[in-house]
Amino acid sequence: MDPRIRIIDFPIVHEPRGNLSFIEGERQIPFPIKRVYYLYDVPGGAVRGGHAHKDLQQVIIALSGSFDVVLDDGKQRHKMSLNRSYHGLYLPNMVWRELENFSSGAVCLVLASEIYLESDYIRDIREFRQAVENEA
Ligand code: TYD
Repeated sequence: MDPRIRIIDFPIVHEPRGNLSFIEGERQIPFPIKRVYYLYDVPGGAVRGGHAHKDLQQVIIALSGSFDVVLDDGKQRHKMSLNRSYHGLYLPNMVWRELENFSSGAVCLVLASEIYLESDYIRDIREFRQAVENEA
């Protein structure tokens, strides 16, 4: 799997009153954050994602609940479960991702390196695989 993919551990302040985690742009996140979006009210069985990005980088966080992220770098497929609000999954550009198996009430927070641009998406897996081959 693409060695750039990794889990980022956010700081945790444990207190009897509850836990607190924080994210400081460019300290924990390897890019300037230009956009934040979140998925919620995802019905059971729904699959989100199903695309790669040409340039955009992201950090994906299971802020609440859990879901699985199926990753494909054009050579290998790998499934990861996200279920900790203090873990961020860093995805560089050119990684195919599918988000599935959302628990009830799950919230998926995404920090993105770019504003929304449809032309940055590759939504066809064959086109993605071809692009990875062409890059090699
Ligand atoms: P999409 O990225 O395909 O969703 P997901 O990958 O989570 O399944 O986006 C779904 C729709 O929402 C699409 O019509 C574009 C729109 N959208 C925005 O307008 N702004 C955004 O920041 C995002 C992420 C999506």
